[in-house]
Order: sequence, then C-alpha cells, then structure tokens
Amino acid sequence: MRIVLVGPPGAGKGTQATRLAETLHIPHISTGDLFRANISQQTELGKLAKSYMDAGNLVPDEVTIAMAKDRMEQPDAEGGFLLDGFPRNVSQAEALDELIETENMKLDAVLDLEAPEDEVVKRIAGRRVCRNDSSHVFHVTYTPPKQEGVCDVCGGELYQRDDDSEETVRKRLEVYHTQTEPIIDYYKAQGLVVTIAATGPVNEVTGRALEALKRDQ
Ligand code: AP5
Ligand code: ZN
Repeated sequence: MRIVLVGPPGAGKGTQATRLAETLHIPHISTGDLFRANISQQTELGKLAKSYMDAGNLVPDEVTIAMAKDRMEQPDAEGGFLLDGFPRNVSQAEALDELIETENMKLDAVLDLEAPEDEVVKRIAGRRVCRNDSSHVFHVTYTPPKQEGVCDVCGGELYQRDDDSEETVRKRLEVYHTQTEPIIDYYKAQGLVVTIAATGPVNEVTGRALEALKRDQ
C-alpha cells in the first residue's frame, strides 16, 4: 500500500505511522525525522533545514522533494510506503504524483487525522522525543516512558524538540492551515481522502485508521 498521512502538528502522525507501518509491513517515511537525522549528523542539509524548522516554516521544496524522492526510491519502499509529513503543500503533492506516474505506481489513500487545536497544543507541550531517533516519541502524561527522561525503545535521552516552543507551534499551525490543508482538497478531487478522528487513546486511533483503510480498499 502507498499511504499519505496528513494532519496538524501534534495530531499524532508519527505515533500512528510507527504502528500502521508495522501492521501493514511498509516503511514509515517521515520527512521531519529525515531532517532531524540530518541535523544531528550536522550535514549541510541539516544546517539548512534547521533554520527553517526552528522558525516553524517549511524547508524549501527543492531540497525536500529531492530528499523524499531519494528515500522513496530505496529498495525497502518498492512494495509500498507510509508518508508522514510529505507532501506538505500542493507543489510537493504534484511532485509526488509525477513520481508515482513515472514509476507506474498508485497512491491508495490519504489518511487525514483530525484533532482540535487545543488538544494538539497540549500534546506538543508534553511531547518528548529520543536523541537517538526522533521517531521514538512519548508524552509526559499521555504516554509516559517507564523511566522519566529515558527512551523505552533504545535507552536514549528524551528531550523537547527545538520547534516545540509555544511561539513556533503557533507558526507551524498557521503554516499547516495556509499551505498544507489545501492538499486535502487536492486529494479529495482524486477520491483518496479518508478522514478519522485522532482523539482518544493511541490504540483506538490506530484501530480506527486500520478500519478506515480497509473500508477504503
Ligand atoms: P514534522 O516532524 O513533520 O512535524 P509536524 O507535522 O509538525 O508534526 P509533529 O511531529 O509535530 O506531530 P505528529 O502529528 O507527528 O504528532 P506525534 O505523533 O509526535 O515537521 C517538523 C518540521 O520539519 C516542519 O515544521 C518543517 O519545517 C520541516 N518539514 C518536515 N516535512 C517537510 C516537508 N514535506 N516540506 C517542508 N518542510 C518540512 O504526537 C504528538 C504528541 O502527542 C506526542 O507526545 C505523542 O506521544 C502524543 N500523542 C499522540 N497520539 C496521542 C493520543 N491519541 N492521545 C494522547 N497523546 C497522543
Ligand atoms: Zn530511542
């Protein structure tokens, strides 16, 4: 399957993507995680991306599309993938369509995670991620790690993302409404959008997502 996950910052895209990718046996491709890995390895791409991410803005399309395309062309993504955080505006969606067409592939669904703004703000405020791998995600009250400040998965140190400050979160939400939300209409026109409520316990949201994807088949 080839799935795109969309939803505001803090909706739980990363949390759900990890679980869905495992169940559906497809790789989880998160452009946010790829940028954060580049930042921790201090690559040129990481240095460029950090300045945009810390301000809550989108990283320029040219580098983002090249990075996403490169990842989707890896052998493990041949049979399908779950995209998290990409595409994030209409020109990225058009670039993805182009790639899909060139490679004779098909997008199966765009899973839209809906969550109210006050809830996503609370989720982001309490989020802690792992220094070793930013796809290891916890929340201080909703999904706390067994030991405070320590990643359950790999034992790494948990920290608060630089772009999770109140001011940057406000900017990221604005960017989501103005630049990312239009891709929902873009994909609605292709009949691909499946919307689910992303509220309630993590496992319930996963169940809802799997049901919705099955119904959509
Ligand atoms: P990215 O990393 O993609 O961030 P985002 O879209 O803002 O989404 P988040 O990671 O904040 O939230 P999420 O929905 O994954 O929620 P999570 O599962 O962590 O992008 C960051 C930046 O990178 C962008 O601002 C941009 O600069 C750049 N970038 C990335 N892609 C780009 C692109 N394509 N083009 C240009 N620039 C790009 O959950 C949040 C918290 O809630 C966690 O603590 C979690 O434990 C908790 N939680 C999750 N689900 C539940 C639940 N059901 N109940 C209670 N708590 C929950
Ligand atoms: Zn970890």
